[in-house]
Amino acid sequence: MEASGYSKWSSGPEEVSRGPWGLWERWGWRPLFIAIALVVAVVLWALVLSILFSKASTERQALLGGQDLLRTNASNQTAMLGVLKKEVGGCRNCCSETRAQLQTTRAELAETQRKLLQQESSLNELRERVTRDLAKAGEDRENIRSELFRALEAAKFGNSSCKVCPTSWLPFQGSCYFFSILRAKWEEAQQNCADAGAHLVIVGGLEEQGFLRRNSRGQEYWLGLRAVRLVRKIQRYQWMDGVQLSFSHWSQGEPNDARGREDCVMMLPTGLWNDTPCKGEKANWICEKRHSC
Ligand code: BGC
Ligand code: CA
Repeated sequence: MEASGYSKWSSGPEEVSRGPWGLWERWGWRPLFIAIALVVAVVLWALVLSILFSKASTERQALLGGQDLLRTNASNQTAMLGVLKKEVGGCRNCCSETRAQLQTTRAELAETQRKLLQQESSLNELRERVTRDLAKAGEDRENIRSELFRALEAAKFGNSSCKVCPTSWLPFQGSCYFFSILRAKWEEAQQNCADAGAHLVIVGGLEEQGFLRRNSRGQEYWLGLRAVRLVRKIQRYQWMDGVQLSFSHWSQGEPNDARGREDCVMMLPTGLWNDTPCKGEKANWICEKRHSC
């Protein structure tokens, strides 16, 4: 009798031997292979997990480090903010102090300005008064001089009769005036007056000015007024007797010291005055002398 089992030629169901060898024979290498694959898979999985874990742990460490750094920075910045707040507070105090000081200074300045304005107006008044007094003093001096001459002449001639002005001289307020027909330069005109015991006219005020203008017959006349020049610059104007100018009757825009050489003064046909070169042109002249009585 033939043992039941696989027969190459049999067409019926396969016969498997019983026991462990029976399973081996039935399944062959497959379970072992599956087990090995499982082990390999588990090992691989564990490897991947451990790699991932180690990477995560490194990143966590880095994050923790970053967090520490951020904390440190935050605390530093908080401290800095505190310092800044203090500084801003201090600055605010300092600003308000400065503002208060500025206000005080401004008030003081306004007060000083007010005082200065007051002083300026007082000075202006004083100057006007001094100018008026000076003009009055000049007038008084002329009168005294005139009286003195008169007294001297009276003593000389032993009587008190007053001699009239010489022929062709016009009397006005205690003086005699000569209006020349000829023309000359300033120096020559002055010399002509001196030769006649007179001087080029000194105009003491508006009345005398009016008298001169009325007798000027449309001519230009030299006056006894000259510039006092220092290092090319005119300092002031001075009459023949050394007295400074107080009354004046300048034409518009005069004296202009054109080309820096206008030292002498003439009365224009309008009666107004112009400074002009002493040696530049010839003009008529007016002599003046006090009454000799
Ligand atoms: C001016 C005067 C000046 C004169 C000199 C005129 O044109 O107006 O100021 O004295 O020239 O010649
Ligand atoms: Ca002039």
